[in-house]
Amino acid sequence: MCGITGYVGHRNAVPLLLAGLEKLEYRGYDSSGIGIVASANAKIEISKAPGKIKALKDLLALSPLSPSTLGISHSRWATHGAPSKANAHPHFDCTQKILVVHNGIIENYEELKDRLMQKGHKFLSQTDTEVVAHLIEEHYQGDFLAAVQKALKELKGSFALGILCRDDPDTLIAARLGSPLIIGVGKNENFIASDVPAILDQTKKVIYLKDGEVAVLKSDSVAVYNLASKKVSVKVDTVKFSVESVQKQGFAHFMLKEMHEQPDVIAQILKARVCGDQVVLDGLGLSDAQLKKFNRIFIVACGTAYHAGLLGKYLMEKFAHVPVGVEAASEFRYREQLVDKKTLIIAISQSGETADTLAAVKECRAKGAKIIAICNVVGSSLTRESDGVLYTHAGPEIGVASTKAYTAQLTMLYLLALKLGNVHAVLSKAEQRFLIGELRKIPEHFREILKSKSLIAKIAKPYAHFGCFLFLGRNINYPSALEGALKLKEISYIPAEGYAAGEMKHGPIALIDEYRGVVCIAPQSDIYEKMISNMQEIRARKGKIIAIATAGDEGIKNHSTDVIYIPKTHELLTPLLAALPLQLLAYSVAVHLGCDVDQPRNLAKSVTVE
Ligand code: M6R
Repeated sequence: MCGITGYVGHRNAVPLLLAGLEKLEYRGYDSSGIGIVASANAKIEISKAPGKIKALKDLLALSPLSPSTLGISHSRWATHGAPSKANAHPHFDCTQKILVVHNGIIENYEELKDRLMQKGHKFLSQTDTEVVAHLIEEHYQGDFLAAVQKALKELKGSFALGILCRDDPDTLIAARLGSPLIIGVGKNENFIASDVPAILDQTKKVIYLKDGEVAVLKSDSVAVYNLASKKVSVKVDTVKFSVESVQKQGFAHFMLKEMHEQPDVIAQILKARVCGDQVVLDGLGLSDAQLKKFNRIFIVACGTAYHAGLLGKYLMEKFAHVPVGVEAASEFRYREQLVDKKTLIIAISQSGETADTLAAVKECRAKGAKIIAICNVVGSSLTRESDGVLYTHAGPEIGVASTKAYTAQLTMLYLLALKLGNVHAVLSKAEQRFLIGELRKIPEHFREILKSKSLIAKIAKPYAHFGCFLFLGRNINYPSALEGALKLKEISYIPAEGYAAGEMKHGPIALIDEYRGVVCIAPQSDIYEKMISNMQEIRARKGKIIAIATAGDEGIKNHSTDVIYIPKTHELLTPLLAALPLQLLAYSVAVHLGCDVDQPRNLAKSVTVE
C-alpha cells in the first residue's frame, strides 16, 4: 500500500531510488514519482508519472533529473484522489522548499486543509498527503527537524513519511506512525524504505523504526527521536534473507516462483519446529501451564490469512477441544469483543502490517487478552504488538496473491494445534506421532504436485473464458474452497465464490449451467460420499466440474469433467495439499487470460489502511 524509498549519501540518488522503487512496486502501482535536491544548486527537482514505474523510468530517460546525492521516491496505491500525475507523490509546500512522500492515511486532512487554505496555502492535488508539506511549511522557521516534529503532533491517522527540505541539502527526515518504514544503514550513505527488499542489494543492516519515531539521516549518521523529541538509542539488525530471494530467478512470475518454494518453506518450518515427536514452539512466549488456562481462542486475520485461520479453528477444536472463533479483523475491531485475560488471540498476517488486524489486536490487548502472532515479516508492527511470535520465515513474498505465506501459515497452525492438543491432553501420543510423520511427507507431496503443473495449465485453458466459478468443499476443506475462489478472482478477475458444498442447495445451485466452472475439493475422507452427491447434483445441471481428488481415485472421473490428483495423505492434512493445485489453477487461468499475475489491478500487497 504505497512504497517509499529515500537516499542520502555520496552516489547519484536517482538510479538507486528507482531500483528500490521497482522492488516495492508490489505495494502499489498506479503512479509513481521521484524528487531530488540537485547537487549543483540545491534546487528541488521532481518527476512524476501515472501508471507503473516503467512510465516514470521512460519519462526520466527522456528528461533526466540533475545529479544529486539526496532524494525520495514513491509508488502509489490511490486512497485520496484518482491515480494521476497531480496526485502522484512527492508533494510540495507552497514555497517548493519542502517535499514529502507518504504511505498511510491522514485522517484529519480535511480539517487541516481548510485551516491551511484560510491561511493562504494553495493545494495542487486531491491527496491527504499534501497537507503534510504545507503543515511543515507553516511551522518552518529555519529548523527543519523542529518544523517536522511540530507538524507530526497535529496529524491523526497513520503515516510513514520521507521528507526533504531545500535549506538542508544533506538531510533526509523519516517518520512513522502505524505504517512500516525501515532505515538501511550503509557506508557513508543511508536509505529509507517501506520494506527490506528495496535496499537489500545495497545493505543488509537495518533499523526498524518504531511507531512515533522520527529519524534524521545524513550520509554518515542516523539519529532517532521519540514523540517527545528526545533522542533514543537504536538497534541495527542484520537481515537474514538473500538478494536472490527477492528476484524471479528465471520464473515467469513471482507467484510461480513462490509456489515452487513451498516444499522448502514447509520443510524448513518442520525442521525448526519439530524435534523427534515433539512440537517446539520457541517464541510463543507462553508456558504450557499458561496455554492450558485459556478457555477461548479467537483467530483474527484478513484475506488469505483469514482462510488459514478458518482451518486453524477446525484443527484446534479437534485436537484440543477448545472453542475457537475466527474473525475477519475488519469486522471484529468494531464489534463488542467478548475477550478477557482468559482469551488467547492468534493474529495471522504475512506482512504484519495489515491495518485491520493490528487494530483488532490492539482492542483485544487492551481488554487483557494475550496475543500470539503468526507472521512472516520479522520486526513488523504486529510482532511488536504481540506477546509471542511464531515466525513462518517463508522469505519475502512479492506476488500480491499469497501462496507460500498461506501454506506456511497452515503448517504453523497444524503445529500449534498439535501443541494445544498435547497441553490439553486430548491428543494421544500415538496420534500426534502419526500426524507428525504424515506432516513430514508433505514437502515431497508438494514436489509431486508441482510435476503436474503443465497438466493443470492444460486443464485450466478451456475454463479461462467461463463467466463465473463456484469452489466447493466440505468440513476442513471448506476454507480451501474459500481460498481457491479468492486466488482465482484476485488474479484473473473472474467472479468466483467459495461455498460449503452442503450449502449449495440453499441458493448457489441456481448459478449452475454449462457455462459455469465448479471446482470440487473431494479428497478421500469421511464425507467423501457427501461430496460425490453434490457433484452429481451439479452434473445433473450440466455444470462443468474440476475435481481435486486423491491419487488412485479412478471413480471420481465418472462424476467430473476433469480431475487434478493430489497424493494420498491423512484426511486432516488434505487442505495443505489442496492449496497447491488451487493456486496453480488460478495462476494458469490468469496467464491464459493475459492478466498481470503479480500485480493484479486495484490491489496492493500489504493493506496498511482501513
Ligand atoms: O499481510 P496479511 O497476511 O495480513 O494480508 C492479508 C490480506 O490482505 C492478504 O492475504 C490478501 O487477501 C492477499 N492478496 C490474498 O492473496
